[in-house]
Amino acid sequence: MYNIVFMGKSGSGKGTQINLMIKNGYHKISIGDILRNEIAKDTSLGKSVKKLLEKGKLISDDLVIKLLSKELDNHKTGIIFDGFPRTLNQAKKLEKILKKKNIKLDCVIEIDTPDSVILDRIRERYTCKKCGASYNKKGVQPKKEGICDVCGGKEFITRQDDEINVVKTRLKDYKKTSKDILNYYKKIELLYIVSGASGSQTETNEQVETVLRIINLKNELAKFH
Ligand code: AP5
Ligand code: MG
Repeated sequence: MYNIVFMGKSGSGKGTQINLMIKNGYHKISIGDILRNEIAKDTSLGKSVKKLLEKGKLISDDLVIKLLSKELDNHKTGIIFDGFPRTLNQAKKLEKILKKKNIKLDCVIEIDTPDSVILDRIRERYTCKKCGASYNKKGVQPKKEGICDVCGGKEFITRQDDEINVVKTRLKDYKKTSKDILNYYKKIELLYIVSGASGSQTETNEQVETVLRIINLKNELAKFH
């Protein structure tokens, strides 16, 4: 198993792909899910970030790094970073933390999905209250009606930040901040881009699987050098 960063605009399909991989034993670290969980439990952290999340704005790098660092104490391999890093500063901090904890980042996968497709999808998205797994009224539904495929949860909600104007803000902000991060990972040859436009989660998943096979091959070849 590899350690992977998943990037992509809001609604590009990160969570959907990651949930498919969790079934193969991967562990997801999603700052968004952690924060939504804190808000649901009405903790002091939840109270302090609620407004920012509702507006679709990023929370401070320092807080994010603290949350991430805590999560990494329990895992060394098969880690998926869901939508992290979100700023170049976070990318650099991540590199330092991973080095300190002796964890190797194997690749960064960006899911590239057009804005128009995303806006259509988010209008129909609903998520599991317990684990945050994402479904779609017009698309991917739980296999057993009313029961989450990932955790068996029975309650579903619509995310506060899925209001269309908030989604538009999140899309604009991603364009602004992702360029530097993607360039950074491109330079160190970790970046792979897959298409999220197909309308089928299986097709995107096949592309993700292809990236993982390439990583495997690269690792095998490296043994001969
Ligand atoms: P976060 O939870 O990370 O949200 P996001 O990046 O905006 O992305 P989403 O979760 O909305 O989309 P997704 O790509 O997972 O799409 P999904 O698979 O659901 O962050 C939320 C907030 O937390 C941020 O705004 C910020 O405030 C804070 N935060 C988080 N990380 C932070 C950080 N590092 N620094 C600072 N602040 C941070 O798919 C969308 C829909 O499409 C679903 O309905 C799905 O069923 C459907 N779908 C998916 N794939 C397909 C397909 N191939 N075909 C058809 N339908 C599909
Ligand atoms: Mg998500």
